[in-house]
Formats: sequence, structure tokens, C-alpha cells
Amino acid sequence: MPFPQKVLGMIFEKASTRTRISFEAGIVQLGGGAIFLSPRDTQLGRGEPIEDTARVLSSMVDLVMIRAYEHAKVEHFAAYSSVPVINGLTDYNHPCQLLADIQTFIEHRGDIRGRTVTWIGDGNNMCNSYLSAACQFDFQLRIAVPVGYEPDADLLEQAAGRVVLLRDPLVAARGADLIATDVWSSMGKEEEQQRRLQDFKGYQVNAEVMAQAKPEAIFLHCLPAHRGEEVSAEVIDGPQSQVWEEAENRLHAQKALMEFLLSDAPVSA
Ligand code: CP
Ligand code: NVA
Repeated sequence: MPFPQKVLGMIFEKASTRTRISFEAGIVQLGGGAIFLSPRDTQLGRGEPIEDTARVLSSMVDLVMIRAYEHAKVEHFAAYSSVPVINGLTDYNHPCQLLADIQTFIEHRGDIRGRTVTWIGDGNNMCNSYLSAACQFDFQLRIAVPVGYEPDADLLEQAAGRVVLLRDPLVAARGADLIATDVWSSMGKEEEQQRRLQDFKGYQVNAEVMAQAKPEAIFLHCLPAHRGEEVSAEVIDGPQSQVWEEAENRLHAQKALMEFLLSDAPVSA
């Protein structure tokens, strides 16, 4: 037990299955414990300022994880926190999921450097994190999204040279080593669902799309998934899908992240 009595505070503005379970199980397995905090039943929901909550919570716990709508809220919290703050998903990105996705690819196919990754569907928080990962892990990223659903413009610019923006999923999938997608209506976009169902027609990852990729290509989806919308059942439940390992890797990757953040030893970049 490397971290006895270390406490992780977890604030969830949005629903979660994987993120909550993996962080909570992970800190327990490291010897510590977690406190789940929902704005509904804390003073945050009654208007207590973020900076006050950050100062108080971080005086009592060793790590904080936040899932929020606004990315700026997590940054604001971190600015006033005396302990490390982990982004557990915002409307802008989902970096912890990418730790698990990259781990899953490496475990199955080795080094991801120079490989071709294809993102199909919404240019959402997950897509933004794939853009950051393309720079960090040095892979080529092809993004196929409908007009009006492009990812963050600054991230696209930062990944210039590594990213190609396309409209045709079949073209984007050609020769890919990894195909990834996500729901068409993320949390907070529920009221746009009907329009999105129309706009994303033709952007489903199905057998025809997978057939364009390398035969050994793997399929990833952060989950939860909507079979019959962004992915067909035959793909997500088929032999190229590694989504269950991907989900389990949230636990392993985030235990490594928490170990890194809780360790006193200086770590070189
Ligand atoms: N992939 C993911 O973050 O899942 P949850 O929303 O269930 O945490
Ligand atoms: N893009 C999805 C990811 C869920 C893990 C959402 O934000 O709802």
C-alpha cells in the first residue's frame, strides 16, 4: 500500500460510471480513500464560490478530481487549490481517457509513434484530447466530422502537420491503425439530439468503415456507447473492438497518474 490515508476528493457536475469507479477503486487500491462530492449536496450547488471551495477542500485532501461542464471552472479551481487537480472531463477535453486509450493501443499494437489514428463523428471533448495526444505521442490523426462539428480551432492549429480534417469517413479510415469514435450528443447537448441524429447520418463506424482500415486495426470508444448510432453493434461487439480493455485501463492509467502526483520524488519531464 504505497499511499496509506491519502484522500482523493472527487467533484462530479456530470454523470459518470467509469471515471468515478476507476478513481475511487484506484485510490483505495493505493491505500487511500475517496470522497464523492456532487454540487447537488454541497454548498457549491448553492453558490459558494469555486475559489473558496478549492481552498477548503484542498486543505483537507491530498488530490482533487473534477468533472465539470466549463473547462475554465477546473482551471479556476486549480488556481486556488494547494493540491494537484485532475481533469475528469470537461466540455473541452477528456485527458484521462486518452491515457487509457494510448495504453490500450500500445498494449495491442506497440508504439503509437508515426501510426495513423482516425476519429469519426463529433469534434467534441474526446476529439480535442485526440488532437493533444497526436502532438504528445507523435501520431498522425485524421478527423472526419460533419460541417459545423469541427474540434477546437487552436488545437487543430497546434496539431498542424499531424492532423488532416476530412468529411468522408471512408476516406479518413483508409489504412488506419486505430479507429475511434464517441457519442453524437455529449452530456449537456441532449436538447440537440434530434438535429444531431440528422447531421451525423453517414458518420457511423460500421463494418464498411472498418474494412477501409488496416486488417489489424483496433476500434476504441470511451463509452457509454449508443449502438446503431455512432457505432454498429457488429463493430463495438466485434473482434477488432478493445473497448472493455480500454475501460479497464482507466483504472491502471489513473493509478499511475495518482502515484505520479502523490510521489515526493522529483520526476523528470
Ligand atoms: N469514458 C468515461 O469517462 O465514462 P464515464 O462518463 O462513465 O465516466
Ligand atoms: N463526449 C462524451 C464523453 C463521455 C465520457 C460526453 O462528454 O458526454
